[in-house]
Amino acid sequence: MINWFNSGADMQALYYTEFGAADCMQLGDLPLPVVGKGEVLVKVTAAGLNPIDVKTRAGKGFVAAGLGERESFCFVPGYDLAGTVETANEAFAVGSPVIGMVNFPLTKAGRGAGACAEYCAAVAADLVAAPKRVELALAAALPLAGLTAWQGLFQHGALQTGQRLLVLAGAGGVGHLAVQLGRSAGAEVGATASASNQDFLHSLGAQVCLDYSRPDALAAAGPWDLILDLMGGEVGRQALDWLAADGLMLTVPTLTAAELVAAGAAEGKRVQGYTVQPNKDQLIQLVELVDQGALNLHISHRLPMAQGPEAHRLLETGHMKGKVILENQSVS
Ligand SMILES: NC(=O)c1ccc[n+]([C@@H]2O[C@H](COP(=O)([O-])OP(=O)(O)OC[C@H]3O[C@@H](n4cnc5c(N)ncnc54)[C@H](OP(=O)(O)O)[C@@H]3O)[C@@H](O)[C@H]2O)c1
Repeated sequence: MINWFNSGADMQALYYTEFGAADCMQLGDLPLPVVGKGEVLVKVTAAGLNPIDVKTRAGKGFVAAGLGERESFCFVPGYDLAGTVETANEAFAVGSPVIGMVNFPLTKAGRGAGACAEYCAAVAADLVAAPKRVELALAAALPLAGLTAWQGLFQHGALQTGQRLLVLAGAGGVGHLAVQLGRSAGAEVGATASASNQDFLHSLGAQVCLDYSRPDALAAAGPWDLILDLMGGEVGRQALDWLAADGLMLTVPTLTAAELVAAGAAEGKRVQGYTVQPNKDQLIQLVELVDQGALNLHISHRLPMAQGPEAHRLLETGHMKGKVILENQSVS
């Protein structure tokens, strides 16, 4: 059994050593991460949260399965990082503000993800210059959700101008970015959310705003060329009915992707799952859109790192508007 705590207390980090409810995470002292070849030490300003953080902590999904195979683990969550470069390297000067989707899904050493700490060692190729138009901490909301939306719409979905795009869960972390990206690409964009988030969908530019508690309106709004399913399960299953005969549904939650691909095949409809990948070029383009004012990040909660368990509980409601971030400095 590795003793994770015997090499000195060099930084504060959120971590857990077993799966469980949100309170299994604690903020405590851990050694500074060892910076490997091609990596950069980043002083973390803020970490963005994603549902995968919550699922992994609860012992669900492919990252938890990988962790569970180890004799023991000390997992520092957080794939989304915004911070300043601490160690000199070829790509960035010391002090450069950077963002990135880091250490996804797990480093060989089992260290990943690592952004919910004062310092994080990240592969330099996963980092890009932070947007200038928004406060650095807020930019932690962009990488994983932005890349998921980008890869769904443009890499896997090959979205074309004039096509009809439906985003299921358009008010969430990925959805609120996908709606805006779809509009930027000249698609006709529809999105679903609860009644209370219809104004938010409008503000993002969605032309067809749908309350998911009104099945008649949902059915009448189709067919759609591309559906970005951010809900999975029964919601994704129902959306198959609204897909154009030659359309494509991308189902993003990995836990139910296989069953929805099979359901699509049974109906002769194209359904595909995918897992987001770090991509420097795509992240640079997302940053450019933020700097141009064409992509707005909506942050519903910015909490101090010590409130990690509370932030996870917020995400667990399944009703966050935009993103939740954890900051190393307390908000004034
Ligand atoms: N495969 C991958 O690589 C990958 C990458 C990123 C994310 N994901 C997965 O994709 C999913 C979405 O991620 P996310 O970050 O966008 O999640 P999120 O921010 O937690 O999504 C929350 C949103 O879901 C909406 N919602 C809840 N019930 C709904 C329903 N029945 N119909 C439509 N919308 C509903 C809520 O809107 P209301 O408050 O209005 O109800 C809320 O705005 C998660 O399962 C995540 O794990 C997978």
